[in-house]
Amino acid sequence: MRVDDVIGETLYPGLFAQAEAVRWRMQDIPWSQIERGAVTSGLRQLVREIAFSELTTATATRRFLTDLADDVDLTQWIAVWFYEETKHPHALLTWLHHLGERVDGQFVQRGRATAPFMRSRMGTLVTNIISEMVASAGYAALAARAAEPVLRRIARHLAGDEARHAASFYVYARRHLERSAEPAADRRDALKVLYLWYAGSALVGHPVSEFYGRHEQRPEIGETMAQLGFNLAAPRDRIFQLIGTLLDLELDGSVDLVALMRTLEPPDRTSDHGAT
Ligand SMILES: [Fe+2]
Ligand SMILES: [Fe+2]
Repeated sequence: MRVDDVIGETLYPGLFAQAEAVRWRMQDIPWSQIERGAVTSGLRQLVREIAFSELTTATATRRFLTDLADDVDLTQWIAVWFYEETKHPHALLTWLHHLGERVDGQFVQRGRATAPFMRSRMGTLVTNIISEMVASAGYAALAARAAEPVLRRIARHLAGDEARHAASFYVYARRHLERSAEPAADRRDALKVLYLWYAGSALVGHPVSEFYGRHEQRPEIGETMAQLGFNLAAPRDRIFQLIGTLLDLELDGSVDLVALMRTLEPPDRTSDHGAT
């Protein structure tokens, strides 16, 4: 990717400015006002698991910086993303710390393990758009319905960060598509990600989908997730619409993605000849 003017022609300065404008600070969280009585064991366990799943960005960042090193624009923005994503488990673990919960370095090390990147750059960007939207919806549910007010406030900040991350990955995906040498293949990859996310989340191999796979079955956490409406169903339509806008396709949650992917197959030889 050639960039002639790093400040004038890249997406990064605008995204950086947006991030700076809405920056929230750890020291402004009213830690002393945590209401211990409002915290159930299920909520505590859920927050611990959410914090764990947030740790994967360390590994993801390393991969972005190596696998996509030729994209100077995106990799600069990854620095902002990594900073903000590191702050998320920091805030959640601090909340738990005030409740007497401790985690050690091994917890952090284990949390950093993440599934391998997809070979497709478009697929990676779309995976991240979706996972940020799912994360944002989860935090929005926590912000709306968690019984503990300080956690609600943290969750509100995190929901905002994740929504902005989704929007940022979106603009990088759109730019990638605009400049793509193989737009049809990229659009198919995007639909494939969307299909796999909903047909079998585990196949996409993203920490957010792994999170749901791991915890929906565990009774105390599963119950808390259900009470908070912390599930995948909520943003499905919005995700389909957004990816539809990205690909210039009419998509809603009920669309047949497999049939749609077929329409994006490269034309076969017969039709090639027919055109000449
Ligand atoms: Fe996060
Ligand atoms: Fe995020």
